[in-house]
Amino acid sequence: MRIMIDGHPRDMRAVWCDEGTVRMLDQRLLPHRVEVVGLVDHRQVAKAIRDMTVRGAPAIGVAAAYGMMLAANRGEDLQVAAKELKATRPTAFDLFFAVDHMLSEMEAGADPTDAAEAYADTIVKRCQLIGEHGERLIRDGARIMTHCNAGALATVDYGTALAPIREAWRKGKKLFVYVSETRPRLQGMKLTSFELMNEGIPHAVVPDGASGHFMREGVDLVIVGADRIAANGDFANKIGTYEKAVLANELGVPFYTAAPLSTFDLSIERGEDIPIEYRGEEEVTVVDGVRLAPYGCKALNPGFDVTPRRYLSGIITERGVLKPEEIIMGLRGERL
Ligand code: MRU
Repeated sequence: MRIMIDGHPRDMRAVWCDEGTVRMLDQRLLPHRVEVVGLVDHRQVAKAIRDMTVRGAPAIGVAAAYGMMLAANRGEDLQVAAKELKATRPTAFDLFFAVDHMLSEMEAGADPTDAAEAYADTIVKRCQLIGEHGERLIRDGARIMTHCNAGALATVDYGTALAPIREAWRKGKKLFVYVSETRPRLQGMKLTSFELMNEGIPHAVVPDGASGHFMREGVDLVIVGADRIAANGDFANKIGTYEKAVLANELGVPFYTAAPLSTFDLSIERGEDIPIEYRGEEEVTVVDGVRLAPYGCKALNPGFDVTPRRYLSGIITERGVLKPEEIIMGLRGERL
């Protein structure tokens, strides 16, 4: 991903490893401060996932893979490390996939650093392919809506929902992106807008509640990411995705999710079985350190919702654009 630092473009990943230290952009500080943190044990990685220094399903998976690498290189109990990493966030399937992948690679004798680097590179490659497949869905002059941040920050590089947008722009297509702000943590306004600004892609941040208004005015397609996709094609993504899907369906706007195979949980048959993370009330009631809700007022803060597959026009993967009903046939038994 290209980031402008002090007026100079720099190409960097959201998470990487540098001589045994895991480094990541501190996403809590973006867009106004670009800071890199260095982590030397898997407990620090677990904390960084939990406190959302790193976030977005595929990036969480890569961070966890590096966390397993650190545990192995320090001679720690790998089963304990796996449990600690898996306990950080419940919905993003990539976390569980990456930790189990690392366990099986190391059991088979792989070098932990090589295995973690290969995992990161594979995810980046898959996102690049998602971009190439998804770009074909975008016509010149398209107006696209996205939600949350499913860009390079969420996936290490390229993105899932943002990868087709990046690729279409790179190919010279004219675009306009509606970025919903994504209350309460504002990943759309802070992170997606940051990525699009850095690439020079025309966009505007819109309030979450304005999606229907803009879809009726003429959004051509909606592309969002996914945190976990069940075997039947239902999927969990950032809270607010479901209502966008229903609106898109009502208004006849094509609605896609984009995700690599590491986000597909084929052990879960239906969306209702996907565990949904609930986060602290203060994310809703406190804005910029100021409590806006009356004292004593309760808040409910689900981080994700589930969109039934019937609202999906397709799932953009590294294998091409799948129809939801093709998942079981197309992917059962697949490995990274
Ligand atoms: O809570 P977050 O910021 O980790 O949630 C991220 C999302 O919901 C993204 O849309 C999803 O992980 C897909 S990321 C490519």
